Amino acid sequence: MSEFSVYKNFDDLDQESKYLAHKAKDAANHAHAPYSKFTVGAALILDDGSVITGANYENAAYPSGMCAERVAFFAASAQHPGKRIMKIAVVAKKKGGKDLLPATSCGPCRQVMLEFETNQKKAIPIVMQADDNTWVIAPSAASLLPFSFTKDNLDAHHKK
Ligand code: THU
Repeated sequence: MSEFSVYKNFDDLDQESKYLAHKAKDAANHAHAPYSKFTVGAALILDDGSVITGANYENAAYPSGMCAERVAFFAASAQHPGKRIMKIAVVAKKKGGKDLLPATSCGPCRQVMLEFETNQKKAIPIVMQADDNTWVIAPSAASLLPFSFTKDNLDAHHKK
């Protein structure tokens, strides 16, 4: 577990992580979460300093919704192709609420982040609140997905 940086206070995070977390909190206000009433915001920073945000957008047909992290990743890729993603922060709060709640990225978001990370050949630290008073910076998407499935698995299959 030592590869994860753990902080007992939000204020102990580095400046950039705090800045991204604040941006993510603003983004959560634009979520569309009438069903779960759980709003999530994500903010990532690109290698040119641009900050791209995302929020969760739910749908009456539940599986059609999308998580904040993937909205941010796909938006960054669509609007700033070729730029590397240097870090992402994700935060959550109750709809209409002020206080942040723990939200550690779901499995599918981890999988999507891993593919971006693999393609850009640079680890993407992920800042998130793991518990009421615990902030974590995972050093990479790979660290959140041991024994993961990647393009290499498909390539190995094609070679046989
Ligand atoms: N959600 C996210 O956007 N990101 C996460 O890391 C966890 C879950 C969203 C999906 C859904 O709209 C709501 O939170 C409740 O699961």
